[in-house]
Amino acid sequence: MGREDVLALLRRAEGAYLSGEDLSRRLGLSRAAVWKAVSALRQEGYVIEARTGLGYRLADTPDALTEQEIRSFLGPTDIVGREVRCFDELGSTNTYLKELALAGGAEGTVVTANCQTAGRGRLDRSFQSPADKGIYLSVLLRPELPPEHLFPVTALSGVAVCRAAERVCGARAGLKWPNDPVLNGRKLSGILTELSLEGETGRLQYLVVGIGINVSQGPEDFTPEVAQMATSLVRELGRPVSRPALAAALIEELDRMYAALRQGNLTDFLAEYRRRCVNLGKPVQLLGSDGTRQRAQALDVDEQFGLMVRLPDGQERTIRSGEVSVRGLYGYVE
Ligand code: BTN
Repeated sequence: MGREDVLALLRRAEGAYLSGEDLSRRLGLSRAAVWKAVSALRQEGYVIEARTGLGYRLADTPDALTEQEIRSFLGPTDIVGREVRCFDELGSTNTYLKELALAGGAEGTVVTANCQTAGRGRLDRSFQSPADKGIYLSVLLRPELPPEHLFPVTALSGVAVCRAAERVCGARAGLKWPNDPVLNGRKLSGILTELSLEGETGRLQYLVVGIGINVSQGPEDFTPEVAQMATSLVRELGRPVSRPALAAALIEELDRMYAALRQGNLTDFLAEYRRRCVNLGKPVQLLGSDGTRQRAQALDVDEQFGLMVRLPDGQERTIRSGEVSVRGLYGYVE
């Protein structure tokens, strides 16, 4: 415990020096125990300066996805983030959380991994999740809502990702329909929502929303195919972005999103989705699962987050997520 208590006091001092004597008196620890705690923290990447006659000051914190670091940035939330479990490596945070859900895991539990060895994307694709570069985070929800009300969760989570990125580093991310956060025309984040319904009653057992955000990946961190369409915050902004700060902001935004979903009050989210949707007013290609391609003009997003398009023959139709993939005429977005 000494380590956490010493860190808490150093954080509270906001970069000012605290004497070893002061620390040991306030925590009821010996001077040797304070020194041991400082050494342990340094090993974990905390930069603690020591000056004779002044004591210790916290000069920098590690860019680590640990519960301690995430909580140091996290404000109060209602449900999401009640429990936060952080791992250095997992196969997939979604898979971990689905197993936890079946074992009775608590609603709002957040799981993060510093790297995933079997990160999963939509349509059975993999999600490349290199260590120390991204945020791989899933949340367990158990809304008491009929399954048809859950349809917009992935799109709403896309809005939450954009809001979190904007708050933490000023990135003005857009949304490629139906739910990919994009920056400067490339994919910044992927979202995979998985749910389980009880066979007999059709009641929801659990809902797991899994989000991957590319924070500091360069093209070399992706396979050539993915590198063409993916980007990261650091690559686009050209400055460092704190992963624990971004994870905390994401937890807060997901908590707001979940409150809106439970209250059935999605007006603001829908308006923001429309504002951020990069496809609206632009030509798109509709890619069928059988390889067919059709050109269309993206017109609007309806109340169920369907994409309303005009086909070349003038006919208008609304596309639901999963029906076809949408691309720009020349690339991923444009
Ligand atoms: C996609 O773009 O196809 C969705 C990608 C979703 C990736 C996230 S990373 C955290 C969570 N765990 C997974 O295995 N997948 C999701």
